[in-house]
Amino acid sequence: MRIAFIGDVVGKPGRLMIKRHLKRLKQEHFVDYMIANYENASHGFGLTEKNCIELLGYGIDMMTGGNHSFDKKEILDLFDTYPLIRPINYPKETPGKGLFQTTLLGHEVAIINLLGHYTMPMVDNPFTMITEVVKELKEQGVKHIIIDMHAEASSEKNALLHMLKNDVSAIVGTHTHVATDDLQVLEGCCYVTDLGLTGCRDGVIGMDSTIPIKRFMTGLGGHFDVPEGCKAILQMLVFELDDEGRCVGAEKIKIHDDKPKIVTKAWME
Ligand SMILES: [Fe+2]
Repeated sequence: MRIAFIGDVVGKPGRLMIKRHLKRLKQEHFVDYMIANYENASHGFGLTEKNCIELLGYGIDMMTGGNHSFDKKEILDLFDTYPLIRPINYPKETPGKGLFQTTLLGHEVAIINLLGHYTMPMVDNPFTMITEVVKELKEQGVKHIIIDMHAEASSEKNALLHMLKNDVSAIVGTHTHVATDDLQVLEGCCYVTDLGLTGCRDGVIGMDSTIPIKRFMTGLGGHFDVPEGCKAILQMLVFELDDEGRCVGAEKIKIHDDKPKIVTKAWME
């Protein structure tokens, strides 16, 4: 099966890039299932119902979140209606779920959203928690396990790869919005430290640069804003899993506005 993943979708420019390119990309890369991260999809912070319906309408099958999952309070009512998850290591009492399971081409597939520790809200230890969750899934016979590791620190994402490379199908890093050039398939596990944003590519992590620069110059706060017009980018990962849930190959696709796509490939090592 071929699964595709789009990282942090940042605001309207990100949604428009998906509208413009996704249908064609899914056909060209034979995508069976499409995942995206929603946490910045509505003007950079959280997700509204309108934008949720919009993104699902473009051909996304389910969406993961992160530390901005709850920025738009209306999401609290969306978890029961739409295929959305939030990080699994939030407290048990937090609305929503962190594990999504579906059947695809005769296989049970599990998608888990996990939040790192460094600079993140207070959550349960991601490493001990994911160990338990993966163990339970394995006991249930689930072999196709995909993790969205939403974290600031590259080291946390690297450590998760080496901890779980023999147990899960893919670990996709999200959150920093800046893509890393380390796509690999290690012992059957597809991995990239950060998939990078889909949205504006000429600002500061998808936002207008004015406020971030002011913040760094003065230490004063301000509300980050997604520009109306910008140079845009779409970044998508496609990975192929065999019947045992092992990744056999992966491709990172990058499109700048309407320019030809740039493809980077990785094979099983
Ligand atoms: Fe985030």
